[in-house]
Amino acid sequence: MGVIFEPFKIKMVEPIPLTTREERERRIAEAGFNPFQLPASAITFDLLTDSGTAAMSAEQWAAMLVADESYAGSRSFEKFAAVVRRLTGFRHVIPAHQGRAAERILFACAAKAGQRVPNNCHFDTTRANLEYLGVVAEDLVIAEGRDPASLHPFKGDVDLARLERFLDQHRGLVPFGMCTITNNSGGGQPVSLANLRAQSALFRRHGIPFFLDACRFAENAWFIREREPGQQGRSVAAIAQECFALADGCTMSGKKDALVNMGGLLALNDDDLAARCRQLLILTEGFPTYGGCAARDLEAYAVGLEEGLDERYLEYRAATTRYLAHGLNRAGIPTVQPPGGHAVFIDARALLPHLPPEQLPGQSLVVALYVEGGVRACEIGSVMFGKRGADGGFVPAALELVRLALPRRCYTQSHVDRVIEIAASVAARKESLTGFAMVERPQYLPHFTARFRPLAPARAFAPADRTGRGRDPPRC
Ligand code: F0G
Repeated sequence: MGVIFEPFKIKMVEPIPLTTREERERRIAEAGFNPFQLPASAITFDLLTDSGTAAMSAEQWAAMLVADESYAGSRSFEKFAAVVRRLTGFRHVIPAHQGRAAERILFACAAKAGQRVPNNCHFDTTRANLEYLGVVAEDLVIAEGRDPASLHPFKGDVDLARLERFLDQHRGLVPFGMCTITNNSGGGQPVSLANLRAQSALFRRHGIPFFLDACRFAENAWFIREREPGQQGRSVAAIAQECFALADGCTMSGKKDALVNMGGLLALNDDDLAARCRQLLILTEGFPTYGGCAARDLEAYAVGLEEGLDERYLEYRAATTRYLAHGLNRAGIPTVQPPGGHAVFIDARALLPHLPPEQLPGQSLVVALYVEGGVRACEIGSVMFGKRGADGGFVPAALELVRLALPRRCYTQSHVDRVIEIAASVAARKESLTGFAMVERPQYLPHFTARFRPLAPARAFAPADRTGRGRDPPRC
């Protein structure tokens, strides 16, 4: 097969900021060693997230111009709802300004304190929105999903035996089940159709509604076609439709596979629950035919839902992720295997074995990637998911990952090549990387605003931190 190339040409460009190493050392120290606190003007390769960072197509921009901004009953909503219904089959389509707004509305209407919601892995916002209500968020991914080196093709699958035990044990306490496609927290790994079918059957047998957290539904369907026996002859759209048909509803951030910069939705079949969700929507998001979005956002979302299922685009997208992962692996950087859909996840614990989890190896790597070449990555490890145990001690996350997320249709192959070079330079001096301590930790979603300091003297860091202070564990 020849080179799999970008199936688009570039019509509009944006310059990339270039900075010096000295500038980056100063900037990251000022940001409390938290890349979320850096201004984008100081970033060369922004791989923080694939969320809301897509380049929109000419078709999407054109659709925005014909949007009907009527407060109630806009034509744009009708168009959007028709596309969502055709894809998902769900009766009620409720727009929201992004995924977490849809989650908050669904959870507030369907769950209450003391209940438990299973998932393969809850992403940070789903977990936080449930815990905020006093609901226990339970992760039941298969064991291979927690092993970065495992080559299992569907590491997002739920452990069905554990799910069955969970449902028996907590009978009457499970308001609904969820499954995240693809499984972001577990490395962007897909869930197989066979597993979704089995989960669906299990939830139906227990009379429990089943919701998909569906923001990467198209990449998940692509992997099903690529990897699952018997699925090769089908269209990716037909596979996606079958996934939705197995559930009773979904929450979706449109900022991922639907290729929009803002937008989300809740879709479901239950008339009564939908009516309650719409009431809450009116209170906090807006009227049910715009739900926190401008009509032009809904127009772009409707077009993006279909473009996101384009098979040439999905082939190129998966090839880019694979190319980045293989480049890193060749430089001796271990990544979660096999490469997932939207991102490459570096196994920071394996790369930096001299840093124990309480010294936050993922954060150390994130800082080094920035200082080395202006790459902004995201820690998905003990900063995001570490906890304080019952005895007040630090409980690390299951994995210490660093995510290099690929914005959709933004960067070219030479950008990816440069990112690989930068990561390889960091890997070549990995023994010199120091640990970090968290010095400020907010209660919810700590990774966004936490501040850190390096644990040992390091030439790259601010003078105040050269004293060797701070060998204490992070305050989690
Ligand atoms: N569910 C999953 C699996 C997600 O990855 C995200 C967002 C959300 C829900 C929430 O959607 O941002 O529109 O409110 N993930 C982004 C990320 C932030 O960087 O992975 P949102």
